Amino acid sequence: MEGSIQTLRYRAEEILEDLTLDEKIGMIHGDELFRTKGVERLGIPPLSMSDGPCGVRAEFHPREWVSVGNTDDYVTYIPCNSAIAATWDRQLARSAGSVLGEEARGRGKDVMLAPGVNLKRTPLCGRNFEYFSEDPYLTTELASEYVKGVQSWDVAACLKHFAINHQETGRLGVDAEIDTDVLEELYLQVYKDIIDAADPYSIMSAYNKIHGEYCSQSKYLLNEVLRERWGYQGFVVSDWGAVNDTKLAAEAAIDCEMSVTYDFDEYKFANPLKKMVESGEIDESLIDEKVIRILILMLRLNMIGEDRMIRKDASYNTFAARAKVLDIARGSVVLLKNEDNILPIIRPEIKEKRILVVGENANKIHSNSGGSAEIKALYEISPLMGLKSRIGGSTKIDYLQGYCSKLNSETASSGTNWQELSLENGGGSALGNGDADKELREFRGKLREEVLQACTEYEYIIFVGGLNHNIDSEGVDRRNIELPYEQNELLDALLDKRPDTIVALTGGACVDMSKWIHKCKALLWMYYNGMEGGNALAEVIVGDISPSGRLPETFYISEKDCSGVSVGDCGDEKMVHYRERFHIGYRHTCKENIKVLFPFGYGLSYSEFEISDPSFNRGMEEVRVMLKNNSDFDATEVVQVYRLPDEKADYIQLVGFEKVYLKANGTINASIPIKDRQGDGKYAVGKNVLELIPVQ
Ligand code: BGC
Repeated sequence: MEGSIQTLRYRAEEILEDLTLDEKIGMIHGDELFRTKGVERLGIPPLSMSDGPCGVRAEFHPREWVSVGNTDDYVTYIPCNSAIAATWDRQLARSAGSVLGEEARGRGKDVMLAPGVNLKRTPLCGRNFEYFSEDPYLTTELASEYVKGVQSWDVAACLKHFAINHQETGRLGVDAEIDTDVLEELYLQVYKDIIDAADPYSIMSAYNKIHGEYCSQSKYLLNEVLRERWGYQGFVVSDWGAVNDTKLAAEAAIDCEMSVTYDFDEYKFANPLKKMVESGEIDESLIDEKVIRILILMLRLNMIGEDRMIRKDASYNTFAARAKVLDIARGSVVLLKNEDNILPIIRPEIKEKRILVVGENANKIHSNSGGSAEIKALYEISPLMGLKSRIGGSTKIDYLQGYCSKLNSETASSGTNWQELSLENGGGSALGNGDADKELREFRGKLREEVLQACTEYEYIIFVGGLNHNIDSEGVDRRNIELPYEQNELLDALLDKRPDTIVALTGGACVDMSKWIHKCKALLWMYYNGMEGGNALAEVIVGDISPSGRLPETFYISEKDCSGVSVGDCGDEKMVHYRERFHIGYRHTCKENIKVLFPFGYGLSYSEFEISDPSFNRGMEEVRVMLKNNSDFDATEVVQVYRLPDEKADYIQLVGFEKVYLKANGTINASIPIKDRQGDGKYAVGKNVLELIPVQ
């Protein structure tokens, strides 16, 4: 049973007394790719870790990046963190974490290497889909619930990547020039707030450097900020291969070194550290402290001694988990445009009609790629499958690929796991938009022509495109936000012929839609939406549910409108400058009046909501509004409260939100608690950052 940390510490100190140096060393480094060594004679088990965040990763051979390949590691595929953020729903975030925790426990894991909580500083980062939002408050609120969900199963959540791991280019060593107030009050504050709210049992230190120091051996970051100032007593694990110097890392308050190579005994925290202790260069008490924190973690998870009998048991691949991820997927589809009420296409009206589904993403599985977030999904309902299984019967549904990411004859895999080589290849680079060779261009031209020929023969056209995990992936960034694979050419021509085409895009962050958006009437956005994503999309399209997702980030017209690209910079392999200071995302576009494609917080529903009469409640702790659903559709609105710029903070910022469900034609008084760090501000309330009414 978890006692106070101090009590657990006493117990850990007692256990420590019986441990030899070798045993301690075994506990603080990877003895397998995802496990440390236990101490059998004392009943201390190894610590077993696995990646998330979209589900528990497949089993690898313990000491080789080769999948075991059995059938028992298929799991529930959870919508990615950006998708969870798009729900703006704390309960759904808790439920996502709970599915992950339950399945981790079911699979016998102790630490889930999730969630990623770095802010989406630019839309270019290849791992954006693993992160929640550009906004610190939204990230903190949802990630805290997610952590509580994971940990409710006697499994540790692990906040990563500490800190400011905002790009993949040069990810193993890229350095950051960032003002300390910005680092601490914006980026580190997110970690601090999640620690205060949800007590995550572990944190992963990042690969990159800050002010010339590797995060994984930074005394400033780990000892001073995390341990001394914040009093964090949890477990800190390095990213895989992020420890570079034995002495510096030993002296830093990091507890365990994990890596991707097979020379386990030569990890910095293995033989090299042992030798330094024996020669007196490093004091053994530094190792003791790490071991104590690992033991505390194990005690908190009921992993040692008789506590094991009360450790929670759990299952994976349950029906209940699938229902939960369907709910999350439903809550995260964002409706961006719906001119002439093209959507929904109501079911009785489509009887005996023909639908053409177009686009590679309609027929693609995303769960099995993206870097360490890849999983073996028990199943993944593609949009095409979702639409067919929901609408089938007397409606005819045909499919055309329309565009392709590669030639169908190309095989993707070289046979070697990318992670095995991840330290050698410099760790990340930027992708172009795949300058297509002649053959590929010709092939795409043919696919396009097929669609343009066929599209007049159908009553409905549904296009499903966007990005995929060749682009949204660990180890790569985008150079720009262009929509790849000649989808612009296809959409441009298709919308000329069929302006009523329903366009649904997927990605980890925004794409440039300027070439065709003015012609598009119905537009939906989904982040990688889990195993039930295709069903959720179908339900939205046929109007079973009203879309209720809202953008957790700014959708820019061009990446140059993003402050992390134009005021500060990103993408260099060696050094990144955070010159935009606190003005990230909408803070910058609002301040500078920069036109955006869709603002932060934006999303439509099939209903018309009206927000009125905003006033304060309980002093200034809550904002109260009257919310009306002026339609015949049951629907959900996200009421958002922003603090307006003043001399304390010269940027607008989200300080409160609540997702409110309202029956058709209903009215409700909604209360939105606010959390204002600066205090004493002026506030405005609305449906997104650009449509606001002042609170009096
Ligand atoms: C990633 C981490 C991941 C680890 C283990 C690294 O490449 O950066 O996020 O948890 O591998 O797979």
